[in-house]
Amino acid sequence: MNTKHKNFGISEDRIKQQLEETIKDKFHFHIFQTIDSTNTRLKEFAIQGAPEWTVLLAEEQTNGRGRMNRNFFSPYGTGIYMSILLRPDFLPEASGMLTVMAAVAVTDAITQVYGIEPQIKWVNDVYYQKKKVCGILAEAAMKPDYQTLDYVVLGIGINVETPKDGFPIELEQIATSLDVQEVHEILESAEDSTDSRNVLIGAVLNYISRYYESTEKDWIMERYRMRSFLIGRQVVVVGNEAEVLQVTGISDNGELMVKDAEGHACLLSSGEVSVKEWK
Ligand code: BTN
Repeated sequence: MNTKHKNFGISEDRIKQQLEETIKDKFHFHIFQTIDSTNTRLKEFAIQGAPEWTVLLAEEQTNGRGRMNRNFFSPYGTGIYMSILLRPDFLPEASGMLTVMAAVAVTDAITQVYGIEPQIKWVNDVYYQKKKVCGILAEAAMKPDYQTLDYVVLGIGINVETPKDGFPIELEQIATSLDVQEVHEILESAEDSTDSRNVLIGAVLNYISRYYESTEKDWIMERYRMRSFLIGRQVVVVGNEAEVLQVTGISDNGELMVKDAEGHACLLSSGEVSVKEWK
């Protein structure tokens, strides 16, 4: 592990020092040493009536969850495992926008704190140097009328200080952390370099709060497109590796726009793609 930015525990006071003045008291923090999953626990809080902007954080998750029933590797003291409770008053169809917003907020926060430019892999993964540094899992529940949203739990997992050799073998080739050489060089001159997890949590919350409250949301999708590394690349849909598709864009609803070998266009609204060839 890089010794320059050694490791304070996650702390409400230190996070609050990073928050913009107007939102310092907006969040209701609960910080755990060990938890099964901050998303699972926050859903229980939500059902018991916890208010919007309740935030759960943990130093470690024993059952961190990702999309498609995958595990999210969550070792002690090196990552950010955070879930945020939102109670949006928009229609359930629009809730996909929250994942888009969260991915843009995380990339913007990483750029602000670390001076690097991570990218977004549709739908909700954040990549740096062709490897995943962050995953986002949004889980929504409806009100009893089945028309409107009761809550959305927005779960964000970021590998901050996981050492290069700290990932299990099955993740070594596909995951990385922000503990990389470029970041060390940038952090050496940064004032807050000793406290990178609390600083990054504060920055993510600043951006999420700002984007969520913004009434004009079109630019968020524009920014998502700018951060996307799939546009222009060839991909295959996981589970159908035989068919190579060209990614032509991302629609206003967040679907992946692709063309097959015969030039037929279609939209992918869910699932997972992998890049056919990195250039
Ligand atoms: C993915 O990679 O598919 C999404 C990973 C989401 C991980 C975060 S960590 C905090 C929150 N708690 C969980 O159990 N999962 C999310």
